[in-house]
Amino acid sequence: MRYWIALWLGLALIVCGPLQAKAQHAPLGAWAFEPTDKFPQFTKMFVQRKEGQLGGVLTSQWYGDLPMLDLRIDHDRLIFKIYNGNPRLTPHDLTARIEGTHLVLTGRLWDDEIKATAHPATPSELAALRFPTYPLPPPRPVPDNGLARTPPMGWSSWNKFGEEIDDKTVREIADALVKTGLRDAGYVYVNIDDGWQGARDANGVLQPNAKFPDMKALADYVHARGLKLGLYSSPGPKSCAGYPGSYGHVEQDARTWAAWGVDYLKYDLCSGEAFYHTAETVQAVYQQMGEALQATGRPILYSLCEYGRFDVGSWGRRVGGNLWRTTGDITDDYARMSAIGFDANGAPHNGGPGGWNDPDMLEVGNGGMTLEEYRTHMSLWALMAAPLLLGDDVRQVQPDILSMLSDRDVIAIDQDRLGRQGLPLRRLGDIEIWTRPLADGALAVGVFNRSAQSKTVAVDWAELGLKRPKSLRDVWRAVDLDPTQDTLTRDVPGHGVVLLRLGGEAL
Ligand code: GLA
Repeated sequence: MRYWIALWLGLALIVCGPLQAKAQHAPLGAWAFEPTDKFPQFTKMFVQRKEGQLGGVLTSQWYGDLPMLDLRIDHDRLIFKIYNGNPRLTPHDLTARIEGTHLVLTGRLWDDEIKATAHPATPSELAALRFPTYPLPPPRPVPDNGLARTPPMGWSSWNKFGEEIDDKTVREIADALVKTGLRDAGYVYVNIDDGWQGARDANGVLQPNAKFPDMKALADYVHARGLKLGLYSSPGPKSCAGYPGSYGHVEQDARTWAAWGVDYLKYDLCSGEAFYHTAETVQAVYQQMGEALQATGRPILYSLCEYGRFDVGSWGRRVGGNLWRTTGDITDDYARMSAIGFDANGAPHNGGPGGWNDPDMLEVGNGGMTLEEYRTHMSLWALMAAPLLLGDDVRQVQPDILSMLSDRDVIAIDQDRLGRQGLPLRRLGDIEIWTRPLADGALAVGVFNRSAQSKTVAVDWAELGLKRPKSLRDVWRAVDLDPTQDTLTRDVPGHGVVLLRLGGEAL
């Protein structure tokens, strides 16, 4: 009996042993991914067991070398996560297993389904796929460039056109800014956001893509109309939409843009968040571009876009920034716009002449909000001393939107030379009263109704701790009101605003 059991066990081992060994063979070692344009463009993976510990690195063109976190073997699979430095990203499991002679990597990253295939890498392949790293400058203050004494004003392609932007559209927008009078109202920067970048030439010089045949000629066209040209890049290897960033080419890119005649740079962290995810490295990399822009000798207004991380308002100026984003992206709806405008404008003491909190570009005219809501949008931005960067197609601007965007009294509040950012004076449920002191001693006051229903609001100067004004203007209605009354009673439409200018020493 014992003999038979031993024989069966032996046979079972002989038959199943190799199968089992094969089934449990997880993909350790070095792998080279097949070249791909698919996010995040994985290039290589290396996994080893050292002193009993499993460790690995996954490399991609977007994020460079990322450690494989929570790495474990489950039968024939490697299961792990990668973290790209974005605090909003929940890392999901990625799974690597062998199929035939290849490795297949599957899972989710951001909203993307991942499926990438690799083959065993030779040492020379691995060396060729090595991801370069570059030194960052030591901290030192970048001198004030003297620009943006009031919040920058202009237009940007992103909110309306996204990546669908080209030379012809930018020229037409420049013409429309002139024709509509928006340029003369102050909107002078014509900013091409993500989507203009092409490939680098043999010397590493970044070229525009086919949609922008001659960037210098485009800058000349824009300048000839009394406007200025803005461009966009990223400190990472890829911009947010996947175009080449300035990683490894910071000084060279700054020189290229200066030679084209660029006047404004928005520098968007994007894939750089994987490399620069500490306060020190993010500051250093923004300082690096700040210094590079100044070294060109051309005055280039510098816009930092890292979504408000690491209290950017407290160091944005020091790295040469003239404005810095305080939030993630705006969208063309009341919920998102008001969440930013009321609650994410950045710390008011950080903003002022030369450096401004930037709650993102305007959506006015893009169709997702009512006129009242757009009026609230403009009023909040003006009270916050926010940059006013139009985000609509100004070639087709409707008369009511045009008059809203060109309202001289509202623009005057935004552009007030004192540069003091407004603050909420009172928040009572859905009604919020915000004030902004102005250079001539006047006070801008916004009476906002955050509910969807119209509300009657009584504003009592004494109750608000204000002196009775010498003059009183309803800014949007463009009418002067009786300043001698103690209380002003107004119907404020749902999601709407009454914007006032109180003349004299109101505080
Ligand atoms: C990020 C920025 C946006 C825009 C896009 C372009 O999301 O926050 O303002 O520049 O990138 O890809």
